[in-house]
Amino acid sequence: MPRSSAAVRRAKKATASDLAVSVPPARMICDKNFSLSVKTTTDIHGDEQTHIWHIFEESMHALYRASSFGWNPQKKKTEMFHPLSRFLIAREITDPTHTGSHIIAYAIFRFEREERQDVLYCYELQVSTRARRFGLGKLLVHILSDIGVQWGMTRVMLTALKANHAALSFYKSTGFTIDESSPDFSKDSEGETRDECDYSILSRCLP
Ligand SMILES: CC(C)(COP(=O)(O)OP(=O)(O)OC[C@H]1O[C@@H](n2cnc3c(N)ncnc32)[C@H](O)[C@@H]1OP(=O)(O)O)[C@@H](O)C(=O)NCCC(=O)NCCS
Repeated sequence: MPRSSAAVRRAKKATASDLAVSVPPARMICDKNFSLSVKTTTDIHGDEQTHIWHIFEESMHALYRASSFGWNPQKKKTEMFHPLSRFLIAREITDPTHTGSHIIAYAIFRFEREERQDVLYCYELQVSTRARRFGLGKLLVHILSDIGVQWGMTRVMLTALKANHAALSFYKSTGFTIDESSPDFSKDSEGETRDECDYSILSRCLP
């Protein structure tokens, strides 16, 4: 069984400008202007890494700490800034020169072969507290799906903690369902569905 497919191998080699073909440069939502960009790990500056980490830490620290994942910043940073990670970044445009614009939301993704499918795996999706419920999360999911389609992936996949009720509602509203590979469907020796796992794997099929 090949560990990667031709489509995944090709997608992994895509540069930031190759990926940017599916990314609109800017969007206006609720009278606010947002710029959008895509970067590889090598394109991400140190201060951007710090900002990305802080947004993650602010939202996820308590949830991770209480979960089977545990709170391990070094392990999480290694995952987030892995050489194969790709970053879809939204900034609020606060002045015409964009000099003062900060990262307000982002998605981190990789192209992977999972369960014999070519998938765009979304490792993180984060919207800063002050920018939530404007539709930015939904916009990022749609752009991720467009990137997935462009590179021949069959689904967008992600892992979500069951205790993260807001995220589960959000993913349901953006068309994700529990993937058949999720531990929710794994059975014990008596054929009963296991319930003890504190996360689910969700996916959204791509056309
Ligand atoms: C989950 C998250 C990404 C949603 O981003 P967002 O930009 O606020 O979401 P949107 O504005 O695009 O919401 C789209 C729809 O999702 C649903 N939704 C979003 N947030 C919700 C919440 N807190 N509770 C219930 N439903 C929610 C709603 O149906 C919403 O549509 P509506 O606003 O018209 O009712 C954001 O809350 C976040 O960053 N949370 C912390 C990080 C996190 O949990 N990430 C997911 C890790 S797996």
